[in-house]
Amino acid sequence: MSKEVVLSGIRPTGFLHLGNYFGAMRNYVRMQDEYNCYFFVADWHSLTTHPDTKELRTSVNRVLAENIACGLDPEKVALYIQSDVPEIAELYLYLNMLAYKGELEKVPTFKDKVRLSPDNVNAGLLTYPVLMASDILIHRATKVPVGKDQEQHLEMARNFAERFNHRYGEVFPLPYAFNFQTSLAKIMSLDGNGKMSKSENAMGTLYLNDSEEEIIKKIKKAKTDSGPTESNSVKPDYIENLFTLMRLVSKEDVTAKFESDFNNCFIRYGDMKKQLAEDMAAFIAPIREKAQSIQNDEAYLSKITKAGAEKARESASATLKLVRQAMHMNH
Ligand code: ADP
Ligand code: TRP
Repeated sequence: MSKEVVLSGIRPTGFLHLGNYFGAMRNYVRMQDEYNCYFFVADWHSLTTHPDTKELRTSVNRVLAENIACGLDPEKVALYIQSDVPEIAELYLYLNMLAYKGELEKVPTFKDKVRLSPDNVNAGLLTYPVLMASDILIHRATKVPVGKDQEQHLEMARNFAERFNHRYGEVFPLPYAFNFQTSLAKIMSLDGNGKMSKSENAMGTLYLNDSEEEIIKKIKKAKTDSGPTESNSVKPDYIENLFTLMRLVSKEDVTAKFESDFNNCFIRYGDMKKQLAEDMAAFIAPIREKAQSIQNDEAYLSKITKAGAEKARESASATLKLVRQAMHMNH
C-alpha cells in the first residue's frame, strides 16, 4: 500500500517562533519517517499581506534553514518553494470557480486582516483559503500538520474538495488537520494577548532566532499575578501558558514541582520564570546555531529546493491530469 500523503506550509513573513515549532514543525519532523511528506514555503501566500518583496528571498531562506535546523531531513521529504510549482496556480484557478464570495468573507482570519489593514483588502486575501486548499489538494494530501488557528481553513479545503468531487467526479480525498497530541497546539503570547506570531507582538513571542539574553528578558517580563489564594484553583490563561511552555521544554519533575506549588498556593512566579528561561534558552540554542550556519548557504539551499520542486511537480502534475480528465479539459 502506498504511504499516506502529508503536506504543510509556512509563510515567509518573519522569524519563526515557538508557536510555529510546536504547532507545526515538531509534527513535521515526527511524520517524516512514516509518511510521504511535502513541506513548503508559502511565498505566494505572503504576498496577500506583504506585497513588498525586497526581503522575500532572505525570509524564504531563513524559513528553509529553520525547518532543517529543527530536524527536517530534505532527503526524506520534499522541501520546496510554493512559487516553484505552477501546477498549484492552475488548480487554484479551478477551485476559485467553486468558492463563493459569501463564505470567503465569513472566514475569521480574513475578517481579522480586514480589520488590521483596511486599505489592502485584495482579492488574493479573500481567496487565501482557496490557494491553501490548492496547496493541499494538489498532492491529494490527507494529513495536514498545523496549529489550531488553521482549523477553519482545513474545513474549507474539505468543502472545496467535496464540491469538486460532487460536480466533476471523485478526485480528492478529504484532508484533516493533524497533531500528535489529542488537540491542536496553540501557544499564547507571553503578555497574554493573543497567540505568538511572526509579525505582531515581538516582546510576547519567543523566536527560534532569539539570543539567550532576549529569551531571559522576554520570559522575565511575561505576565503573571500575585498567585492563587485557594488551593487547586483554575489557572488564568497567561499562567496556563507558562505551564504549557514548561511542559514542552523542562524536565517532568521540574514542571511537577511548580504544578504542586501552584496547587498549594506556594508558587513563586519569579523562580518559575527563571527556571523556564534557563530551560528555554537551552532548548532554542542548538536550533538557532544550526539555522544561522545554513541560512546564508545559497548553493546548499537551492540544491534542496530544486530537488524538492522536482518531486512536488511530479506529484502535482499527476493530480492535475486527473483534474483535467474529470473536467473534460484534457484536449
Ligand atoms: P504566523 O501566524 O506566526 O504568521 P504562519 O501563519 O505562517 O505563522 O503559521 C505557520 C504554522 O505555525 C501553522 O501551522 C500555524 O498553525 C502554526 N502556528 C502559528 N502560530 C502558532 C501558535 N501561536 N501556536 C500554535 N501554532 C501556531
Ligand atoms: N495558511 C497557513 C498559515 O498561515 C500557511 C499555509 C499555506 C498552509 N498553505 C498551506 C498550511 C497548506 C498548511 C497547508 O499558517
